[in-house]
Amino acid sequence: MSKVIKGGTVVTADRQYKADVLIEGEKILEIGENLTGDEVIDASEAYVIPGGIDPHTHLEMPFMGTTAAETFESGTFAAAAGGTTMLVDFCLPGADGSLLNAIDDWDRKSKDQICVDISYHMAITDWNERIFNEMETVVKERGINTFKHFMAYKGALMVEDDEMFASFKRCAELGALPLVHAENGDIVQELQQKYLAEGVTGPEGHAYSRPPEVEGEAANRAIMIADAAGTPLYIVHVSCEQAHEAIRRARQKGMRVYGEPLIQHLTLDESEYFNKDWQYAARRVMSPPFRNKEHQASLWAGLAAGSLQVVATDHAAFDDQQKRMGVGDFTKIPNGTGGLEERMAMLWTQGVETGRLTPEEFVAATSSNIAKILNVYPMKGALVPGADADVVVWDPTIKKTISPATQKSIIDYNVFEGMEVTAQPRYTLSRGDVVWAYGQNSQPQPGRGKFVKRAPYASASKALSKWKSLNTPRKIERDPMNIPSGV
Ligand code: URP
Ligand code: ZN
Ligand code: ZN
Ligand code: ZN
Repeated sequence: MSKVIKGGTVVTADRQYKADVLIEGEKILEIGENLTGDEVIDASEAYVIPGGIDPHTHLEMPFMGTTAAETFESGTFAAAAGGTTMLVDFCLPGADGSLLNAIDDWDRKSKDQICVDISYHMAITDWNERIFNEMETVVKERGINTFKHFMAYKGALMVEDDEMFASFKRCAELGALPLVHAENGDIVQELQQKYLAEGVTGPEGHAYSRPPEVEGEAANRAIMIADAAGTPLYIVHVSCEQAHEAIRRARQKGMRVYGEPLIQHLTLDESEYFNKDWQYAARRVMSPPFRNKEHQASLWAGLAAGSLQVVATDHAAFDDQQKRMGVGDFTKIPNGTGGLEERMAMLWTQGVETGRLTPEEFVAATSSNIAKILNVYPMKGALVPGADADVVVWDPTIKKTISPATQKSIIDYNVFEGMEVTAQPRYTLSRGDVVWAYGQNSQPQPGRGKFVKRAPYASASKALSKWKSLNTPRKIERDPMNIPSGV
């Protein structure tokens, strides 16, 4: 059974053109004019884009004494409803510290639930010989080529600089890419205690204790450590000018550093934490916190300029009751917000509709760039013959006001509630299957999603390793006659 997506404008990261897309089974067979197929999917008055890839989610994540409420089923269905056909979740080691057991655990949770494709990043939350050894199996057998390091959450997930350096070196050997959550965890903890001692116990204390400088310092430090270890680096949830500046500066020096702003930081600001309603403010508590308008402007500029490459969500959804764990002490509010379902529509509305981004840049930021970074391009993130048929018919005429009443996410609120978006997926196809049709009462199809294995040695990692080996400091050969005798 073939399907043809007819009458739309194909938008890729480099161009727009009128064409039909013919799908055979799970793959794109042909793109061109006047194509025919067994089933016609109408794309008139719409764009046809690669399915979105959200490279930063935390579904059913055990964290801060609770577990994120969004499940792999509800999360991947919400993704499909928003035009996202692949997400990359963070796999965290459990109490036994084993990376391989953690992957088994994540597989157990996700396997029968996922409605679209997923992959994992592996978190390095400690350092020892077993982790060193398991990293090789994670890369070579489990198909995971990214390792995440938390520079914050002291006493829990945080790693120290020497541990990060060791892990980054291991990543370089294995052709894997290190990721960092860049915030100085030592200083965050000090500032939290200071504000609590001063009686600031509400959600605003969360923002006060994580100022932009704390993020900028950690971003600079991670960049230095990656350079010393000889590996590219990916900085997650870049929220402020200080971290963006560090990335910009590194890239201008030729370093291979990538930056990922979140749709939340692009569109919501710190005033949310000053809301008189405790629950309203607590729902918005995430790390790093939302920033002011100047930081937002910096992030938007970075997307247009190419110094920031990827828009993600860090979807970590805790319900109202879970957020109330932090009444009287903001440090106990589970950190995280949603956005998986809204990312594409919010970025289109506030990016493309305002002229800050071109449609091509929108595609680059929502799928193509991250597919290249993760080494799954053009199987994912591209519209070319042979690619997976992860395709979205993107309708720029559907207006919608974001509301928890209509969302697919499991939680009871939405941080974008009341905001209007001006585009929606008319159809979302995941490897050739229609998994979402706007207004047609689509239902989740758990278990049809697949785990996507990702090979190491992405192009940038190979290039950097060549450059580093040619330019490494070398021993100076000296005539023994010219070396004085020691004392
Ligand atoms: O607040 C956040 N971002 N929660 C999820 C964990 C993380 O730091 O990415
Ligand atoms: Zn420390
Ligand atoms: Zn983080
Ligand atoms: Zn995260």
